[in-house]
Amino acid sequence: MDERPSGTPFPAGFGWGTSTASYQIEGAVDVDGRGPSIWDTFSHTPGRIKDGTTGDRACDHYHRWEEDVALMAELGAPYYRFSLAWPRLQPGAAGGLNDKGVDFYKRLVDAMRDKGVTPWVTAYHWDLPQELEDAGGWPERDTAYRFADYAELAYGALGDHIDIWTTLNEPLCAAHLGYADGEHAPGRQEPANAIRAAHHLNLGHGLALQRWQDSRREGHRFGVTLNVVPAVAATDSPADVDAARRVDAVTNRIFLDPMLTGSYPADLIEDLAPLMDFSHVIDGDLEIIHQPLDDLGINYYQQGIITGPGPDAPDRFRAGVMAVGAGDTGRSDQGLPVTDRGWEIDPDGMVALLHRITDDYDAPPLWITENGSSWFEEPGEDGVVHDDRRIAYLDQHVRAVKRALDEGIDLRGYFVWSLMDNFEWAYGESSRFGLIHVDYDTQVRTPKDSFHWFKDVIARAGLAS
Ligand code: NOJ
Repeated sequence: MDERPSGTPFPAGFGWGTSTASYQIEGAVDVDGRGPSIWDTFSHTPGRIKDGTTGDRACDHYHRWEEDVALMAELGAPYYRFSLAWPRLQPGAAGGLNDKGVDFYKRLVDAMRDKGVTPWVTAYHWDLPQELEDAGGWPERDTAYRFADYAELAYGALGDHIDIWTTLNEPLCAAHLGYADGEHAPGRQEPANAIRAAHHLNLGHGLALQRWQDSRREGHRFGVTLNVVPAVAATDSPADVDAARRVDAVTNRIFLDPMLTGSYPADLIEDLAPLMDFSHVIDGDLEIIHQPLDDLGINYYQQGIITGPGPDAPDRFRAGVMAVGAGDTGRSDQGLPVTDRGWEIDPDGMVALLHRITDDYDAPPLWITENGSSWFEEPGEDGVVHDDRRIAYLDQHVRAVKRALDEGIDLRGYFVWSLMDNFEWAYGESSRFGLIHVDYDTQVRTPKDSFHWFKDVIARAGLAS
């Protein structure tokens, strides 16, 4: 008997999954020949990480991957999205691949596949080899070519084991948080260089896709993951509307347009004219960046409610992310409930975003490659995290996914961030997004209530009511 209640079932084959990233879970940063990355340097710099932790241990997934694969199998999600550590595969970003790094990922993905879990891999989730940053980092054009070399080698070594390949995760954060805001590695505050970094991330994406396409195995799928943060004008005043347009250009369309249409937005170039010219974009770059995509991953957490310039603009952006062409704008909220990170809980914003991408672009099939919530939580006396708030958050977003499907969006899957608690960048070990609680001292993993809830959603292929 089909136990699925009417009105809530998802299409057969809908892609449930969970996500993680190499630096956030692997630990073992100096094991088996792994080289340093910008995140090792950054997290070891006093004051950079709010709780003073580093990714040195994280979830020690490098040693505990078998246990983690068993947990994936128990959850029953058909997909697991994770990233390859560039400094583990190609220490120093030069020469051939490190066999021990390759073997680690082969063991991992083969074990997953044995359990029926499909690996979805990201080539770059922010752990740039330190040597490349020493040579200038993403603002340098050469970094794009080095990334393409690495991506080609990785596909050559692991292409027989992994069918779904993503070039980049959230280039917005890599460029703006890393090079303008400084909250992320490498911690630079150089707005014009953030724009150059964005372009070289775009270029690296296009070059990597070209290399992969040249040796594409049958049935393989290639894509990218972007965190499109909807920039919604706080009011319909011309100042707010213009501010939202500028934020949208410099954070979202700076990636979406070149990748999906082969051009940079004219208004972006105009907005940035006081800061820089676009001479770093050379003839032919946009053709390289504009490659066919089999999938477009969207990471959604919240919308940005944007206000125009003025002394009363609430919570003015730090001199960083938005300083690039929109530094005089503010960011407000809608008075919605927030997570412990202060992020508004806004599932309707996700549906609106999916419509916007569908309407504005000739987009490939969409996937929510990350969605989730962080709570500063610890296990109760029974040793279990009773995370009702995470369940409520996920429930609302799964309903929103269903709404998007009902409204005709070509959405193929929904991945929760994250499979397990992990090293949350500038927040270190303090900010927990996992379906599985990790005690970092003992490395004991304990599924939270939300793990069992999601397992049930997957088994039913839909919500219970
Ligand atoms: C997006 C990033 O891809 C991931 O690394 C991060 O942990 C989550 N957002 C939560 O901040």
